[in-house]
Amino acid sequence: MTETDPLARTRRDYDRVADIYDDMVRHGREDALATGMITAFATLVSAECDSGVVLNAGCGPGHWTDWLDRFGVSASGVDLSPGMIDIARRYRPDLSFEIGSLLGLPAVDATVQGVLAHFSVIPYTA
Ligand SMILES: C[S@@+](CC[C@H](N)C(=O)[O-])C[C@H]1O[C@@H](n2cnc3c(N)ncnc32)[C@H](O)[C@@H]1O
Repeated sequence: MTETDPLARTRRDYDRVADIYDDMVRHGREDALATGMITAFATLVSAECDSGVVLNAGCGPGHWTDWLDRFGVSASGVDLSPGMIDIARRYRPDLSFEIGSLLGLPAVDATVQGVLAHFSVIPYTA
């Protein structure tokens, strides 16, 4: 990837703000709308699926992956930004966090019971 590549730019930009973003989502005001939506999603997944994991796609520093796990839904995270993934792994070394892109997700099959992509689908322009 080059710096003119939209993915490379996105990765670079989120790497730069990873610590600030982590501080904001963990210590800022609770996002009641997001919590409500993700609670509904997690409840549905729990009711419909008896195995598998939720893939948190574009997981950032992993706070929603952590939240899903505490809610009782197995979850793993993938993100483009190594800086974000470092933070996620630091908080929850027991969960799986991988560097990767939504444009080429690994093995989304029957082992995945749902995908949470919260604020991570970014339309790219040429
Ligand atoms: C605004 S943050 C949202 C993080 C988290 N999902 C949340 O709800 O707070 C967007 C995240 O999406 C990631 N991201 C953006 N484009 C991506 C892509 N193509 N593949 C994987 N992650 C991507 C960024 O690295 C960043 O961590």
